[in-house]
Amino acid sequence: MLGNFSYVNKTKLYFGDDSLKYLNEELPKYGKNVQLIYGGGSIKKNGIYDEVVKILKANGKEIIEDAGVMPNPTIEKLREGVKLAREGGADLLLAVGGGSCCDYAKALSVSIHCDEDPWDKYYMRFEEPSCKIVPVGCILTMAGTGSEMNGGAVISNHEKNLKIGHVFGEEVYPKFSILNPKFTLSLPKKQMIAGIYDIFSHICEQYFSGEDDNTSDYLAEGLMKSVIHSSVENPDDYEARSNIMWSATWALNTLIAAGKRGDWMVHMLGHSVGVYTDATHGMTLSAVSLPYYRYILPYGLKKFKRFAKEVWEVDTAGKSDEEVAKEGLIAMENWMKKLGVAMNLRELGVKEDMIEDIANGTILLKHGYKQLSREEVIEILKKSM
Ligand code: NZQ
Ligand code: ZN
Repeated sequence: MLGNFSYVNKTKLYFGDDSLKYLNEELPKYGKNVQLIYGGGSIKKNGIYDEVVKILKANGKEIIEDAGVMPNPTIEKLREGVKLAREGGADLLLAVGGGSCCDYAKALSVSIHCDEDPWDKYYMRFEEPSCKIVPVGCILTMAGTGSEMNGGAVISNHEKNLKIGHVFGEEVYPKFSILNPKFTLSLPKKQMIAGIYDIFSHICEQYFSGEDDNTSDYLAEGLMKSVIHSSVENPDDYEARSNIMWSATWALNTLIAAGKRGDWMVHMLGHSVGVYTDATHGMTLSAVSLPYYRYILPYGLKKFKRFAKEVWEVDTAGKSDEEVAKEGLIAMENWMKKLGVAMNLRELGVKEDMIEDIANGTILLKHGYKQLSREEVIEILKKSM
């Protein structure tokens, strides 16, 4: 295990097909005014909205409606949410939706009582909150981001062509999250598979760094196997959905980051693609992953060989390390194709003349097996077309 670390995760999880009832246990802990945060209306169609409102009313809460959180939430929407929360005196921010609603709620929680503009403070200067933080609770309807049990809050700024994630500290993590796998059954297939790939990518981002013998890597391999298994064996049944939902949470709640530096370049590329195309987050990752991993493979050969052997069960007999490692990525490619995720940037609407700008918006991190230059980013983006 690398370096020194501390570990705490204070989000209380309620999991299962009857878990919404636990909202009754949480609500009395907070004040009267609940800002009910949701997206474009899926929760009204599948009935979750009515169920939640019924519980809020039964607990004597005043509801501040905050609808229309878009996928890849924007800074403009955040500023509107701040206004609503101030007017209504929000005591609890209750996000009902996917990662976008949960992220937005966390960004809101640190902006309501903050005098400065959240974009400048949290996304440009990366400062930590110095104001009162409004508590957040999540009722998850889509598995993927892990936002239900972490401090991440990704916000897009289309005026500046930037999509940036701030990973806040434990005081910003949701106080509780309700995970009912049945709530994900109404997801369109595209969102479901994008979520599955997002989970897999989160695990890869943490796995592909370091060369030490690290418990986090063994945990990562177990999670990857569960995600692969549940995504191909009847993904529509409850067992698979529940495995996918639970894996998503553990893939990005800091557990498998312990003792690891992490890579995160696939996400940096994906976020920059996202702000130019507004494409679904998981698809922006799938479109760039293989060209990126094939590019860095020689620098992390040992881990790519282990990935092939342990995760994809590639037969190593009589093969060079490089052959085994490459076969692992072929197995991953076959799985991605079967899953149905975007395999290139053209599918997301990227044109050749956008590549330079996407490269300019890609934050270059240095903890993976190879620190990329801007020119290398351009090369990888071209290979992803
Ligand atoms: O808006 P509604 O109508 O609810 O529809 C949503 C949305 O269109 C729909 N949906 C969600 N649950 C549904 C459903 N439709 C039918 N039935 C259901 N049960 O799915 C669409 C996508 O939802 P969204 O919340 O945008 O998806 P996701 O969970 O993938 O979140 C994406 C956002 O999270 C950020 C991404 O960058 C992106 O902005 N991320 C957050 C992270 C974190 N906090 O740690 C890490 C991730 O890497 C990621 O960057
Ligand atoms: Zn992600």
